[in-house]
Amino acid sequence: MELYAINGGNPLVGEVEIGGAKNAALPILAAAVMTDETVLIENIPDVRDTNIMLAAIESIGAHVERLDRHTVRINAGGINDLVVDGDAVKKIRASYYFLGALLGKYKKSTVVLPGGCDIGCRAIDLHIKGFKALGAEVKIAHGMVSTQAQNLTGGHNYLDIASVGATINIMMAAALAEGRTTIENAAKEPHVVDLANFLNSMGANIKGAGTDVIRVRGVEKLHKTEYTIIPDQIEAGTFMFAAAATRGDVTVKNVIPKHLESISAKLLEIGCEVKESDDAVRVVATKRLGHTHVKTLPYPGFPTDMQPQIAVTLGLSQGTSIVTESIFENRLRYVDELIRMGANIKVEGNTAVIEGVEKYTGASINAPDLRAGAALVIAALSAEGMSVIDDIRYIERGYEDFHLKLQGLGAQIDKVETERELQKFRLKIG
Ligand code: EPZ
Repeated sequence: MELYAINGGNPLVGEVEIGGAKNAALPILAAAVMTDETVLIENIPDVRDTNIMLAAIESIGAHVERLDRHTVRINAGGINDLVVDGDAVKKIRASYYFLGALLGKYKKSTVVLPGGCDIGCRAIDLHIKGFKALGAEVKIAHGMVSTQAQNLTGGHNYLDIASVGATINIMMAAALAEGRTTIENAAKEPHVVDLANFLNSMGANIKGAGTDVIRVRGVEKLHKTEYTIIPDQIEAGTFMFAAAATRGDVTVKNVIPKHLESISAKLLEIGCEVKESDDAVRVVATKRLGHTHVKTLPYPGFPTDMQPQIAVTLGLSQGTSIVTESIFENRLRYVDELIRMGANIKVEGNTAVIEGVEKYTGASINAPDLRAGAALVIAALSAEGMSVIDDIRYIERGYEDFHLKLQGLGAQIDKVETERELQKFRLKIG
């Protein structure tokens, strides 16, 4: 067993250092195999998903050298297998980035159909359409997706939905295709821009990342680089809402405040103080917060990956708030767990109507997915009494040392692995 034991009720106070962005690291690691020269990548978060990606890279014959916890050197000159498969790989969504990366470099790729957090139907039709627009054939059989192209040539893409994954996959394949590719209605998330910067540092010619239209002029090959991954917008936002919900005072350090604008705006609106400096944001909440309405949207809108964290905070705010999830249809499942902690929330379709309560009470709950799991930890930290959170493997997919960072802010949280350790925690909190 692996659980978080939490004794709630203390405001979080202090400073926390934010790590590299998981959702930038995953495509960047896949893109590292697109050159035969050696690539050095810094600021990789040491979380379950990035470690599965690194193992997948090794499994196809690339050489991975871990220089320290957050730095790797990758040389993909020895790749001898264009099939990315295995139980671990199947569980992460980002494994499909090997489709675009290997298709670009070898004109061929096969990857086990991706899993990932169960937050709704996660189609890959836009990825497939994109590969086809570059002249590739795509087949799905026996649980695997395969691509192949005689000639990979530039093409025009219009994405019906500004999909992060499809934008990234098309960009990677197009970087090594012949001629020009355009991606219209492209995703604009910071991690899309980070991948484009990484590929450009390897000699790719990608313009417009971060806007609606990305233009790629294919190059013959990519070369070595040294690159540092951007800070994690969602990890930072999670700590910002943890400060708000526990009525604390937290400075999140090593962030890009611009990436946090939609999060800061909502915190200000509900009554927090938010102070920005060059690479840090301080969130202070001294009183009971107010209500608001929020709808998740692609960047620069309010991120779907922050939806459970804001909902947990609004559950403790004065008045009625409405949270609408517009990206994934199954991302309100944590509400049942929150109700067990005393929240007053009704879900209708993709909308949660939240009547703020004075306090949550500790309970035994399950983390249903990565971000909802983190949000339930915030709920437990602000609740009266003790909570036990199960299925924390989801949380560990995307948050490095989550409990240790929270302990650094004064939280009473332990990761426990045995009944005895749980008992010890109970005795410790008295
Ligand atoms: C990425 O998922 C992130 N994952 C998610 O983060 C994040 O929630 C999501 O982007 C939105 O920001 C990674 O970066 C590994 P999408 P992705 O393609 O790429 C539909 C986390 O917690 N769609 O932008 O899978 C899809 O069903 C995770 O860190 C199609 O219809 O998201 C969804 O409704 C969870 N067809 C919408 O688009 C397609 O071919 C957005 O999905 C592709 C997507």
